[in-house]
Amino acid sequence: MTDQANLRAQTLIEALPYLRQFQGQTIVVKYGGHAMVDDDLKKSFALNVILLRAVGIYPVVVHGGGPQINRLLKALNITSDFVDGMRVTTPEVMDVVQMVLLGQVNTSIVGLINQHGGRAVGLSGHDGPLIRASRLQIAREKANDQPPEIVDIGLVGEPEKVDPQVLRALEHGNFIPVIAPVGVGPDGESLNINADLVAAAVAAGLRASKLILLTDTRGVLDGGGNLINELTPPQVGELMEAGVIKGGMIPKVSCCLEALEAGVEQAHIIDGRVPNALLLEIFTDQGVGTVFRAKGRR
Ligand SMILES: Nc1ncnc2c1ncn2[C@@H]1O[C@H](COP(=O)(O)OP(=O)(O)OP(=O)(O)O)[C@@H](O)[C@H]1O
Ligand SMILES: [Mg+2]
Repeated sequence: MTDQANLRAQTLIEALPYLRQFQGQTIVVKYGGHAMVDDDLKKSFALNVILLRAVGIYPVVVHGGGPQINRLLKALNITSDFVDGMRVTTPEVMDVVQMVLLGQVNTSIVGLINQHGGRAVGLSGHDGPLIRASRLQIAREKANDQPPEIVDIGLVGEPEKVDPQVLRALEHGNFIPVIAPVGVGPDGESLNINADLVAAAVAAGLRASKLILLTDTRGVLDGGGNLINELTPPQVGELMEAGVIKGGMIPKVSCCLEALEAGVEQAHIIDGRVPNALLLEIFTDQGVGTVFRAKGRR
């Protein structure tokens, strides 16, 4: 056997304990809009998801679409701001958000998975309905004993209730669900939800064993720009307070901690710009990015 063939066989052997561990388990993968960099990476993502399903793991994909939404907003000359990593969403912005997430990003991910031999189905929180959401309130601390100020960020939601029935039905049919982060508000209206929050809520609702957030950095970085391999809740608090974790990373780390609270065993923030990032995380001894583990798990 050539050295290269032997190396391949070794890789498969290394994967064996992980195959055993995760067979029959659900893994929720959040595919960040920022990680959808080029066609090769998108193809690698689709093939990774297909491989997971082929070896008996149930992948559920939740996607973002920040940069894609920004592009259409810009083309339409609509401005939008961010507060703590959340997009301020007027009804006009919500129309664009929904068009881009469902019409463009969701359809293209579903198409890509299917084109490479998988069987994906796209859905939003409206289907089932999968995700009931409430309006997200953001509180701003004020100086000198003043009550915190509530910042209105419009049609932005947070998941209230995930009903996984529709996902179970897809699972039985051997389909891979691909979820756009739009929830159903109290009056049936569409609410824009940060995709990290959706991924964490879906992971909790499905009792997933892993939540993996693919983004455009190596993981959570410390003040000096170095990758932090593992984080615990107290460390997260310190890094947030110090302003080291900011912007789009805030919902990500909060979601990882919430997922653990809800019974998910491990949450990961990994670099979606690396080909085969998902497989490297799940099936190799090294792992990649930043891991958050439930107490008592190694
Ligand atoms: N401590 C930190 N370590 C790493 N990245 C950080 C940190 N603090 C803030 N960030 C920012 O968080 C960003 C990732 O979140 P962002 O919301 O931009 O992407 P995403 O969630 O992957 O995509 P989308 O929001 O479209 O789904 C990084 O690009 C980085 O700029
Ligand atoms: Mg984000």
